[in-house]
Amino acid sequence: MAFSQETIEFIKKECQRYETRRSAILPCLYRAQKEDPNNQVTPEAVAEMATLMELPEVQINEVLHFYTMYNKKPVGKLHVQVCTNISCSMNGGREMAEHLCKEFNVNYEEVSSDGRYTISRVECLGSCDTAPMMQVNDKYHENLTKEEAVKLLKDM
Ligand code: FES
Repeated sequence: MAFSQETIEFIKKECQRYETRRSAILPCLYRAQKEDPNNQVTPEAVAEMATLMELPEVQINEVLHFYTMYNKKPVGKLHVQVCTNISCSMNGGREMAEHLCKEFNVNYEEVSSDGRYTISRVECLGSCDTAPMMQVNDKYHENLTKEEAVKLLKDM
């Protein structure tokens, strides 16, 4: 899949915004992921970015594979990231993650058969005082019970 004209312009603009083009890799990867129909960054997208940014692919791949916020394989329309770090685990985060997998009949990191859900367990998302919590795509949902989490996802 080739980038849209808007994304091409975004990448070129980001490259001019920073002192070095390498500094623009993070926002450009994020944009590439947003544009992908499976919410991932494909090797083809990396190749296109490398051409547009005039950088070696390896420099983009280094960043892509370092950060967990970039998906390297297809993800459901709702990427549900349940925090299972200390504060959230002590308040039921692990059980909530398990419950969501059972409810939506999907294993961790897989896409449900209807293409809607991917459930991931993640480290602290910086919202420990409102545990347990989960991030769905770009949005935080906090102070949840497992039943509330299911309802919230079904209503989306
Ligand atoms: S432990 Fe879950 S947000 Fe920090």
